[in-house]
Amino acid sequence: MKALILYSSRDGQTREIAARIAQTLAPQQLCDVLDMAETQRVDWPQYDRVLIGASIRYGHFQPVLMQFVTTHQRELQQRVSGFFSVNLTARKADKSTPETNAYTRKFLAQSPWQPDCCAVFAGALRYPRYRWFDRIMIQFIMRMTGGETDTRKEVEYTDWQKVAAFARDFAQIPGKSLGNRA
Ligand SMILES: Cc1cc2nc3c(=O)[nH]c(=O)nc-3n(C[C@H](O)[C@H](O)[C@H](O)COP(=O)(O)O)c2cc1C
Repeated sequence: MKALILYSSRDGQTREIAARIAQTLAPQQLCDVLDMAETQRVDWPQYDRVLIGASIRYGHFQPVLMQFVTTHQRELQQRVSGFFSVNLTARKADKSTPETNAYTRKFLAQSPWQPDCCAVFAGALRYPRYRWFDRIMIQFIMRMTGGETDTRKEVEYTDWQKVAAFARDFAQIPGKSLGNRA
């Protein structure tokens, strides 16, 4: 059986984290890593584990996240499942857990799907790649929150050891019984 890792990413950091998790799980665990926005149908019977990762923009996950977990609530709940969110607020230690990260807490409170494990990862700040408007907005937010304001810089805040530890924890969760699984 394989694990499915689905990501919702705008600038690529969540995709990179998903790929790193797949790398950490290999070779014991085969994984498919797919972009949620391009995944119309999932061949569920080949997967017994699912991880979903999504990033934040201007306070929100992309709508495809809630659409997906609502549509596939049953298939997700029947399998070992995990969720990780990616944002810049999580660069601060006191906002980097599912309980202390407001975006993640809100998602978990609203989601019909309740994952078996959850993590919050700090993302990346890549000023030179942003459009003018986004660059100015992010710089403003960084100024307000004591972050990097030099728009020539790219800063990766992701703690890759935390990502690898999460992948290992996910792999350790005992499998769910096959039952009447879809
Ligand atoms: C236009 C824009 C808006 C963002 N808004 C937020 C935000 O509201 N809160 C936050 O914590 N991070 C915010 N971020 C940071 C992203 O979540 C971070 O860059 C993350 O790594 C993006 O992941 P992705 O590359 O997978 O899309 C924003 C980034 C951009 C470019």
